[in-house]
Amino acid sequence: MPEGTTLGVLTSGGDAPGMNAAIWAACDAASRLGWRVLGLEGGWTGVLERRHRVLDPDLVLPWARRGGTCLGTSRLEGFLRHREAIDASLDALGIDRLLVFGGDGSLHASGLLAERRPVVAAPATIDNDIADSDTSIGFATAIDTALTQLDGMRDSAEALPRTFALETLGGDTGYLAAAVADAGGADLALVPEEPTPLADVIACVQIGLERRGYAVIVASEGYRELDACLAAVTDATGTRVRLSRLGHAQRGGRPNAADRILAHAFARHGVEFLAAQRSGRAVQRAGRIVLLPYVADARRRGAPVRR
Ligand code: F6P
Repeated sequence: MPEGTTLGVLTSGGDAPGMNAAIWAACDAASRLGWRVLGLEGGWTGVLERRHRVLDPDLVLPWARRGGTCLGTSRLEGFLRHREAIDASLDALGIDRLLVFGGDGSLHASGLLAERRPVVAAPATIDNDIADSDTSIGFATAIDTALTQLDGMRDSAEALPRTFALETLGGDTGYLAAAVADAGGADLALVPEEPTPLADVIACVQIGLERRGYAVIVASEGYRELDACLAAVTDATGTRVRLSRLGHAQRGGRPNAADRILAHAFARHGVEFLAAQRSGRAVQRAGRIVLLPYVADARRRGAPVRR
């Protein structure tokens, strides 16, 4: 077993643009402290298989501008059942500090591993649904990606006026859809947390059609009965709604500046917290990265609001 501190870096759950920038920044900060850095490959599933590689900042720097995660990731069902085996793998790999980037499930799982070693988990998900954090790595890029499509739709709508709908990712949450709608000036955002009465959807589309000849709706993939809702809008307005689904293309792509800066901040502070032997959830509040205790239940943020 090598002497000195060994930091394990892990990405988990759905990949998010900026994860690679976070890996690089963590590696850079840890190397400055003289720590050895192990990249854990394939998320928690990979930890069970002890898949890893030694990282150094110069090896990882070319990753930083790429989407996805070069370490790979996974979704592990029933984490609790695997907890002891994961602890054993981390011990066997000599990991005495762990930094995790992932969504709410990953943050929750990280808290279950913090008894044996300091573990810090930071939010990286395009959904931006992490309790207590203003934002998460990947959210800003996912908005940009959707905006490119929304702007394209609007070009077409201005040329050939109709009603358009864009479906975003976001799981069963609407933060991403609401942000895209705000940034793109959509007439309406349909979010799962607060379903819009059909009569209001129709009224909103009618107003857009009357004022400028077209209307734009942004909907989260988690919005129930979206197809039925849009069919009803078609019937009521007499014009077929053109729906585009972004799907997983929205999750990849080159991270934008905001996500790279955020990734850097979470990684740098994460290493600092670990150096001070502290464990917890790193979150961003009012622009500052702070460490909060792990909580037993994975809490959700409040419902998204359009600004
Ligand atoms: O990581 C979050 C997310 O991208 C959601 O927006 C989406 O619903 C989900 O993951 C898709 O998961 P999967 O890639 O496992 O199908």
